[in-house]
Amino acid sequence: MQTAAGYITDVSYLPGFYPNMAPVLLRYAATLNRIAPPSAERVRYLELGCGLGRVFTTLAAADPRGEFVGVDVNPHHTAIAERDIAAGGLTNARAVTADFANLPHDLGQFSFIALHGVYSWVAEEVRSQILAVVERHLAPGGLLLVSYNAMPGWAHLQPIRGILRQYAVLRQGDSLQRIRDALAYLVYIRDKHARYFTDNPRAAAYVDSIKSLDARYLAHEYLNDHWTSFYFADVAGTMGRVGLDYVGSLPVHTNFWDLCVLPEFQELFRTTSNRLVTEAHKDFCANTAFRWDLYSRQPTPLATVEERLARADDLCFGLGNPDQRLPHTANLGIVTSTTTGALYETLLDILRGGGRPLSAILSDRALAGVAPAAVAQAVDAGVATGLFEVTNHPLPAAGTVPDAPLKVVLPFNRALLAADILAGRPIALASTLSGTATPISDLDAAFIHELTHGGRAGMVERMDRRLNESGRGIERDRNPVTDPAERTELLTQAADAVCATLVPQLVRKGILAAAE
Ligand SMILES: C[S@@+](CC[C@H](N)C(=O)[O-])C[C@H]1O[C@@H](n2cnc3c(N)ncnc32)[C@H](O)[C@@H]1O
Repeated sequence: MQTAAGYITDVSYLPGFYPNMAPVLLRYAATLNRIAPPSAERVRYLELGCGLGRVFTTLAAADPRGEFVGVDVNPHHTAIAERDIAAGGLTNARAVTADFANLPHDLGQFSFIALHGVYSWVAEEVRSQILAVVERHLAPGGLLLVSYNAMPGWAHLQPIRGILRQYAVLRQGDSLQRIRDALAYLVYIRDKHARYFTDNPRAAAYVDSIKSLDARYLAHEYLNDHWTSFYFADVAGTMGRVGLDYVGSLPVHTNFWDLCVLPEFQELFRTTSNRLVTEAHKDFCANTAFRWDLYSRQPTPLATVEERLARADDLCFGLGNPDQRLPHTANLGIVTSTTTGALYETLLDILRGGGRPLSAILSDRALAGVAPAAVAQAVDAGVATGLFEVTNHPLPAAGTVPDAPLKVVLPFNRALLAADILAGRPIALASTLSGTATPISDLDAAFIHELTHGGRAGMVERMDRRLNESGRGIERDRNPVTDPAERTELLTQAADAVCATLVPQLVRKGILAAAE
């Protein structure tokens, strides 16, 4: 295995987009935690360990005002990011091939630095290099997003990594071959009831959840020399030593303790304000296995709603689904939350008219007499439960889809749809209105490609041909469908659903528009 400070370089990673990394959400998470976010006017965003670059390139397409830089030590990764930058015609993104200890000195300061899938998988010395980069390049008031494997969620699974890695080291071949061999061994000893698995039934079940994952992902997850799961307090302590304060976490609901832990564990949050204590409590009560944490250098507190409006009123709130009705139920893992009541009915009525900033919501006559803090709190809880979404610009009200041929507006999205079609993984389509991207399945992406190239008539037949040519099967209830009539029926239903639900959503976000 070739390594860069113990990190594998002989197998390329997979492309992926993670909505938690979008500046619009990072700014919102800061605001929610009463910290002034960096300005949205000219975002400077540095992604460390960007892999194939799908995050920073998609974000660059979604925010032409900003400047986005991705760094990775693996030249195969940065070459793919460069290819996507060129194909999408992006002039505000660049990929840098370098390890964290040797970044170009002229990178300047960034309002956002983000690293996903890196911190737990590198050597301690590399983590120190990352911190040095953050110290040098994070602007005052800037935000750092760091994700990592967390304790105690990994406690009972940690030996799986040990088994996979120890077996893989003994095998021949590249990292892909080694991880496949190691996985086969893992399944074998689990199926033969090795005592570790009978003593740890959840670890036995976990084997099923990784069996079907892409071997490239598994190689990067399990075969590096270093692999550490951290307690929140350890990471917060390390960040504190370089002057970074914990701000909050993503996804948004993890900032609300009543949405993370069951009622019997909530008393501590009412009586303790020390985040080191409450976050640890949350992680134990929820058995957290992965965290996305936000840190800031020299954060400015936002004590009141007025201060929030002064610093962050460019964030817009809209309905996630324009047809939304109450009650709204969200399953958030540990907690299932149901939203209902007069205040939310009023908010839904207001936002059915289209997205708007908090100040416009507060000044709506329908909310006269309701305390601004209560409205802001309800809006935030609505975002946490997926009722509302946060965007860079106001999304229009639910409109009708133009009765004309449709086009994919951004060249970046067109290039993605053409290159990544039916690749077996979701594709995230950038929206300049929302400032982030909407992930859709590869099958839906192929429908959108067909719709925008050949129109609605004959779309099902063209999809059928495309699927046959690519060898990509379709399934009903997880069983492959081979009967031609049944295939046509399924594809017709899928095409109708895409046109009825997905297309209006993409039009509203400005991802699709009438072709001139
Ligand atoms: C698991 S991948 C995550 C990629 C991407 N962030 C994602 O989530 O799709 C970790 C990435 O960090 C890069 N990396 C590891 N050590 C590095 C180092 N010392 N300097 C720069 N990049 C490094 C690897 O090449 C790899 O692309």
